[in-house]
Amino acid sequence: MESAAATAWLDLARERERLETFDMRSAAATDPGRIARYRLEAAGLSLDYSRNRLDDAALAALLALATASDTQGRLRAQFGGAHVNLTEGRAALHTALRGSDAGQALPQSADVRAMRERMAGIAGRIRSGEWVGWRGGRIRAVVNIGIGGSHLGPCFVADALAHLQPAGLSLHFVSNVDPRDLEDTLRALDPASTFFVIASKTFGTLETLQNATAAREWLLAAGCPPDALSRHLAGVSANVPRAVDFGIAADNVLPMWDWVGGRYSLWSSIGLPLAIGLGMDAFEALLSGAHRMDTHALEAPLHANMPVLLALLSVWYRNFWDAATHAVLPYDQRLARLPEFLQQLVMESNGKSVDRQGLPLPRHSSGVLWGTAGTNGQHSFHQMLHQGSSMVPVDFVLPLETHASRRAQHAYLVANGIAQAQALMQGRTLEDARAELAARGMSAVETERLAPHLVMPGNRPSNTISMHRLDPATLGALLALYEHRTAVEGILWNLNSFDQFGVELGKQIGETVHRAMCGDAASVGALDAAAAALVGQWAAIQRS
Ligand code: F6P
Repeated sequence: MESAAATAWLDLARERERLETFDMRSAAATDPGRIARYRLEAAGLSLDYSRNRLDDAALAALLALATASDTQGRLRAQFGGAHVNLTEGRAALHTALRGSDAGQALPQSADVRAMRERMAGIAGRIRSGEWVGWRGGRIRAVVNIGIGGSHLGPCFVADALAHLQPAGLSLHFVSNVDPRDLEDTLRALDPASTFFVIASKTFGTLETLQNATAAREWLLAAGCPPDALSRHLAGVSANVPRAVDFGIAADNVLPMWDWVGGRYSLWSSIGLPLAIGLGMDAFEALLSGAHRMDTHALEAPLHANMPVLLALLSVWYRNFWDAATHAVLPYDQRLARLPEFLQQLVMESNGKSVDRQGLPLPRHSSGVLWGTAGTNGQHSFHQMLHQGSSMVPVDFVLPLETHASRRAQHAYLVANGIAQAQALMQGRTLEDARAELAARGMSAVETERLAPHLVMPGNRPSNTISMHRLDPATLGALLALYEHRTAVEGILWNLNSFDQFGVELGKQIGETVHRAMCGDAASVGALDAAAAALVGQWAAIQRS
């Protein structure tokens, strides 16, 4: 298998050379079947990948890499509960949370069912008004306190499906250790009708513990009797005893498990604020949309497998076309946080430099994922996408229908999403620029002066992922699509997508710096010169 993969990488390098002058525009013009061949439907999503620097032979070579890397076998192993997180000896079974188990009845299912029942119980009682705050009034605001995977997923989904939130119950998300985040959020809330979900897989995360402590103090300061705190605090953790030690009533702590990674945990009890704010039915529809994509990822042949194709294209551009970044541009305001969510998913999973055995990777792994909602980006960084000196592959995410009332206005949004993909591919030649300027009545001299500035190289790649409308099921499928794309990238690069040791050193040094700021001499000695200077500056301000 190893040497078959090595051969596949070499074949791809040859394909890349062969395609040096490949032009998507002529490929589209001379091959009318391309658009139908380079298109896929799965779980309510459509993928058009015809606008790529790719022909059938290069695609076959990419698929050969997927075969040689045993993509399907390794996905099956992951779904079946194998310890694919080799460094931590853990499974990555987020798929089991949506009932996807690679044909084996996983023992975890009973735990998941029991957790889900408790989750539905808490959510139902808050939504119905049966759960009351310390003054006897119903809960009006839910504040999730968590960070990373205990924040980004629920925060993004709450935004994306905001049309499902009932009037009179608001959802809020606080993550940053900057006290501003919590203070700004709480300013408009009434403590007697506010319910906190303290979400932390480890229940040992600095930011979350600081904010949770501040939230509890806020409740007490407002007059909440200590024995009524349980009406206002719930916890979600894989370390239930720690959550209870913190002071959350055991009945209010929902478990999660070490076989769910933080950035894959949206589907677990980390979804509690969604179950409360959007309703259990919506949460289950999200899970079932993800389950449909799981089934597709497991069962579709490689050439018709959406996450596999997206992962292959990502590797193609990253390793063979020097693309250091990848933009995800959702044309839907409600998906504005999608790039932020995907940044953790993709970069924390695949931003690695050693393979699964700990040997240096022979090639680049994940680049930078970035983006924002269209059309906003068109008035800022799209200039660089169209005319910059680097090629940035783009995923356009495009719901074709809206929940907003002004459907005619929404048509402009859809039109712009479609147009941007065409513009990236089409570009503008010097001759076209000249003709355009001349048609505007410009003099020949002015035309010659300006025309080079209007040239756009075109031939710039993009995928378009479209869907009828953003609803819980299509959103679930979209997120599962990117999860599996990320897993397959990791398989192709032969790295462990499920650990994140890179985040640790900064946290440790942060503790040392903080101790130094508190005057601990040994910690001061551990600082480098630049850090010591800044700590000195900070201390001087404190004294002044
Ligand atoms: O710092 C990285 C990280 O470990 C993420 O992987 C995780 O999602 C986040 O911190 C939060 O961790 P926890 O849920 O344990 O508070």
